[in-house]
Amino acid sequence: MRLAADLDGRLLEIRDLRAEDVRPDEASAWDDWDDDWLPDDEQPVHHRAAIVLDGTVVGTMSWHAVLYGPTRGSRAWSMGLALAPAARGQGVGSLAQRLLSDALLETAYRVEASTDVANHAEQRALEKAGFHREGVLRGAQYRADGEHHDLVMYARTQAPGSAPSPAREEARAGGDTLAG
Ligand SMILES: CC(C)(COP(=O)(O)OP(=O)(O)OC[C@H]1O[C@@H](n2cnc3c(N)ncnc32)[C@H](O)[C@@H]1OP(=O)(O)O)[C@@H](O)C(=O)NCCC(=O)NCCS
Repeated sequence: MRLAADLDGRLLEIRDLRAEDVRPDEASAWDDWDDDWLPDDEQPVHHRAAIVLDGTVVGTMSWHAVLYGPTRGSRAWSMGLALAPAARGQGVGSLAQRLLSDALLETAYRVEASTDVANHAEQRALEKAGFHREGVLRGAQYRADGEHHDLVMYARTQAPGSAPSPAREEARAGGDTLAG
Protein backbone atom coordinates (compact mmCIF):
# COMPACT_ATOMS: atom_id res chain seq x y z
CA MET A 1 0.00 0.00 0.00
CA ARG A 2 1.05 3.57 -0.55
CA LEU A 3 -0.68 6.77 0.54
CA ALA A 4 0.81 10.17 -0.19
CA ALA A 5 0.11 13.86 0.31
CA ASP A 6 1.84 17.21 0.29
CA LEU A 7 2.84 18.68 3.63
CA ASP A 8 3.90 22.29 3.14
CA GLY A 9 5.94 21.40 0.05
CA ARG A 10 7.28 18.15 1.46
CA LEU A 11 6.15 14.68 0.38
CA LEU A 12 4.57 12.63 3.14
CA GLU A 13 4.12 8.93 2.35
CA ILE A 14 2.69 6.03 4.26
CA ARG A 15 3.84 2.79 2.71
CA ASP A 16 4.71 -0.78 3.58
CA LEU A 17 7.75 -1.21 5.77
CA ARG A 18 10.70 -2.63 3.81
CA ALA A 19 13.48 -4.87 5.05
CA GLU A 20 16.04 -2.24 4.07
CA ASP A 21 14.30 0.62 5.88
CA VAL A 22 16.38 2.38 8.52
CA ARG A 23 13.92 3.05 11.31
CA PRO A 24 14.60 6.03 13.56
CA ASP A 25 14.42 5.87 17.33
CA GLU A 26 10.75 6.59 18.00
CA ALA A 27 10.95 6.11 21.77
CA SER A 28 8.88 8.43 23.90
CA ALA A 29 7.48 8.69 27.38
CA TRP A 30 4.55 6.61 26.13
CA ASP A 31 6.65 3.44 25.73
CA ASP A 32 6.96 2.74 29.45
CA TRP A 33 5.41 -0.75 29.48
CA ASP A 34 6.21 -3.31 32.14
CA ASP A 35 7.82 -6.59 30.99
CA ASP A 36 4.70 -8.75 31.28
CA TRP A 37 4.13 -8.88 27.50
CA LEU A 38 1.35 -11.07 26.13
CA PRO A 39 2.68 -13.89 23.93
CA ASP A 40 2.46 -13.31 20.18
CA ASP A 41 -0.49 -15.69 19.75
CA GLU A 42 -2.53 -13.56 22.17
CA GLN A 43 -1.69 -10.29 20.40
CA PRO A 44 -3.99 -8.93 17.71
CA VAL A 45 -2.52 -9.00 14.20
CA HIS A 46 -0.82 -5.65 13.74
CA HIS A 47 -0.41 -4.24 10.25
CA ARG A 48 2.54 -1.87 10.10
CA ALA A 49 3.63 0.88 7.74
CA ALA A 50 6.45 3.37 7.48
CA ILE A 51 5.85 7.12 7.67
CA VAL A 52 8.22 8.67 5.14
CA LEU A 53 8.97 12.40 4.82
CA ASP A 54 10.85 13.44 1.68
CA GLY A 55 12.30 9.93 1.39
CA THR A 56 13.33 9.47 5.02
CA VAL A 57 11.53 7.11 7.39
CA VAL A 58 10.49 9.30 10.32
CA GLY A 59 8.10 6.97 12.12
CA THR A 60 5.75 4.03 11.92
CA MET A 61 2.02 3.42 12.11
CA SER A 62 0.10 0.29 12.96
CA TRP A 63 -3.50 -0.79 12.96
CA HIS A 64 -5.41 -3.85 14.09
CA ALA A 65 -8.97 -5.09 13.97
CA VAL A 66 -11.38 -4.53 16.85
CA LEU A 67 -14.47 -6.72 16.67
CA TYR A 68 -17.74 -5.28 17.94
CA GLY A 69 -19.63 -8.29 16.58
CA PRO A 70 -18.92 -11.40 14.51
CA THR A 71 -19.62 -9.79 11.13
CA ARG A 72 -17.46 -7.85 8.69
CA GLY A 73 -19.70 -4.83 9.22
CA SER A 74 -18.90 -4.86 12.95
CA ARG A 75 -15.15 -4.81 12.42
CA ALA A 76 -13.48 -1.52 13.26
CA TRP A 77 -9.82 -0.61 12.95
CA SER A 78 -7.76 0.73 15.82
CA MET A 79 -4.70 2.68 14.76
CA GLY A 80 -1.63 4.18 16.40
CA LEU A 81 1.70 5.76 15.51
CA ALA A 82 5.01 7.05 16.78
CA LEU A 83 7.37 9.60 15.25
CA ALA A 84 11.04 10.28 15.83
CA PRO A 85 11.45 13.38 18.04
CA ALA A 86 12.81 15.51 15.17
CA ALA A 87 9.67 14.87 13.12
CA ARG A 88 7.17 15.86 15.80
CA GLY A 89 5.27 19.12 15.94
CA GLN A 90 5.27 19.80 12.18
CA GLY A 91 1.91 18.36 11.23
CA VAL A 92 3.25 14.95 10.23
CA GLY A 93 1.23 13.05 12.84
CA SER A 94 -2.02 14.81 11.98
CA LEU A 95 -1.67 14.29 8.25
CA ALA A 96 -0.47 10.70 8.59
CA GLN A 97 -3.47 9.85 10.75
CA ARG A 98 -5.78 11.62 8.30
CA LEU A 99 -4.37 9.66 5.37
CA LEU A 100 -4.41 6.26 7.03
CA SER A 101 -7.88 6.70 8.51
CA ASP A 102 -9.18 7.83 5.11
CA ALA A 103 -7.86 4.61 3.61
CA LEU A 104 -9.07 2.40 6.45
CA LEU A 105 -12.54 3.95 6.17
CA GLU A 106 -12.66 2.40 2.70
CA THR A 107 -12.73 -1.01 4.37
CA ALA A 108 -14.63 -0.41 7.64
CA TYR A 109 -17.33 1.89 8.92
CA ARG A 110 -15.35 2.90 11.99
CA VAL A 111 -11.71 3.75 12.68
CA GLU A 112 -10.68 4.47 16.23
CA ALA A 113 -7.61 5.57 18.15
CA SER A 114 -7.06 5.97 21.85
CA THR A 115 -4.40 7.76 23.82
CA ASP A 116 -3.50 8.57 27.40
CA VAL A 117 -5.57 11.36 28.95
CA ALA A 118 -2.25 13.14 29.50
CA ASN A 119 -1.07 12.82 25.89
CA HIS A 120 -2.34 16.19 24.73
CA ALA A 121 -0.22 16.28 21.57
CA GLU A 122 -1.81 13.08 20.25
CA GLN A 123 -5.29 14.24 21.25
CA ARG A 124 -4.80 17.46 19.30
CA ALA A 125 -3.26 15.59 16.36
CA LEU A 126 -6.27 13.26 16.23
CA GLU A 127 -8.67 16.18 16.28
CA LYS A 128 -6.73 17.81 13.43
CA ALA A 129 -6.99 14.48 11.57
CA GLY A 130 -10.79 14.59 11.78
CA PHE A 131 -11.34 12.26 14.73
CA HIS A 132 -14.04 12.97 17.28
CA ARG A 133 -13.53 12.58 21.00
CA GLU A 134 -15.96 9.98 22.34
CA GLY A 135 -15.12 9.49 25.98
CA VAL A 136 -12.77 8.14 28.60
CA LEU A 137 -11.86 4.45 28.95
CA ARG A 138 -11.24 4.17 32.65
CA GLY A 139 -8.04 2.35 33.65
CA ALA A 140 -7.72 0.74 30.23
CA GLN A 141 -3.94 0.79 29.94
CA TYR A 142 -1.52 -0.66 32.47
CA ARG A 143 1.90 0.95 32.53
CA ALA A 144 5.30 0.49 34.07
CA ASP A 145 4.48 2.94 36.84
CA GLY A 146 2.09 0.32 38.23
CA GLU A 147 -0.98 2.41 37.44
CA HIS A 148 -3.97 1.69 35.21
CA HIS A 149 -4.15 4.79 33.03
CA ASP A 150 -7.33 6.34 31.67
CA LEU A 151 -7.42 6.64 27.87
CA VAL A 152 -9.40 8.99 25.66
CA MET A 153 -11.20 7.26 22.79
CA TYR A 154 -11.40 9.03 19.43
CA ALA A 155 -13.05 7.78 16.25
CA ARG A 156 -13.96 8.61 12.67
CA THR A 157 -16.86 6.93 10.92
CA GLN A 158 -18.15 6.82 7.37
CA ALA A 159 -20.67 9.55 8.18
CA PRO A 160 -22.51 11.06 5.24
CA GLY A 161 -21.01 14.39 4.34
CA SER A 162 -17.58 13.51 5.64
CA ALA A 163 -14.66 15.30 4.02
CA PRO A 164 -13.57 13.93 0.65
CA SER A 165 -10.51 11.75 0.88
CA PRO A 166 -7.35 12.69 -1.00
CA ALA A 167 -6.01 9.20 -0.37
CA ARG A 168 -8.84 7.10 -1.70
CA GLU A 169 -7.83 6.96 -5.34
CA GLU A 170 -4.26 6.08 -4.44
CA ALA A 171 -5.41 3.45 -1.95
CA ARG A 172 -7.51 1.83 -4.65
CA ALA A 173 -4.86 2.17 -7.34
CA GLY A 174 -2.17 0.75 -5.08
CA GLY A 175 -3.98 -2.53 -4.46
CA ASP A 176 -5.52 -2.68 -1.01
CA THR A 177 -3.28 -4.49 1.45
CA LEU A 178 -4.76 -2.71 4.44
CA ALA A 179 -6.52 -5.78 5.74
CA GLY A 180 -3.75 -8.04 4.46
C1 LIG B 1 1.74 12.26 19.21
C2 LIG B 1 2.36 12.43 17.83
C3 LIG B 1 2.07 11.21 16.97
C4 LIG B 1 1.69 13.67 17.19
O1 LIG B 1 2.26 13.88 15.91
P1 LIG B 1 2.89 15.34 15.58
O2 LIG B 1 3.33 15.32 14.19
O3 LIG B 1 3.90 15.68 16.61
O4 LIG B 1 1.59 16.23 15.76
P2 LIG B 1 1.15 17.49 14.87
O5 LIG B 1 2.33 18.37 14.65
O6 LIG B 1 0.44 16.99 13.69
O7 LIG B 1 0.10 18.17 15.84
C5 LIG B 1 0.37 18.25 17.22
C6 LIG B 1 -0.61 19.23 17.81
O8 LIG B 1 -0.58 19.06 19.21
C7 LIG B 1 -0.20 20.28 19.80
N1 LIG B 1 0.56 19.96 20.98
C8 LIG B 1 1.81 19.50 21.05
N2 LIG B 1 2.16 19.32 22.33
C9 LIG B 1 1.08 19.67 23.06
C10 LIG B 1 0.80 19.72 24.45
N3 LIG B 1 1.71 19.33 25.34
N4 LIG B 1 -0.43 20.15 24.84
C11 LIG B 1 -1.35 20.50 23.94
N5 LIG B 1 -1.15 20.49 22.61
C12 LIG B 1 0.06 20.06 22.20
C13 LIG B 1 0.58 21.03 18.76
O9 LIG B 1 0.60 22.41 19.02
C14 LIG B 1 -0.23 20.67 17.52
O10 LIG B 1 -1.43 21.39 17.44
P3 LIG B 1 -1.55 22.77 16.57
O11 LIG B 1 -1.11 22.44 15.19
O12 LIG B 1 -3.01 23.14 16.69
O13 LIG B 1 -0.64 23.77 17.21
C15 LIG B 1 3.90 12.64 17.91
O14 LIG B 1 4.18 13.83 18.63
C16 LIG B 1 4.63 11.48 18.56
O15 LIG B 1 5.05 10.55 17.89
N6 LIG B 1 4.79 11.54 19.90
C17 LIG B 1 5.43 10.47 20.65
C18 LIG B 1 4.68 9.14 20.54
C19 LIG B 1 3.21 9.24 20.86
O16 LIG B 1 2.78 9.96 21.74
N7 LIG B 1 2.42 8.46 20.09
C20 LIG B 1 1.00 8.37 20.29
C21 LIG B 1 0.72 7.36 21.36
S1 LIG B 1 -1.04 7.07 21.53
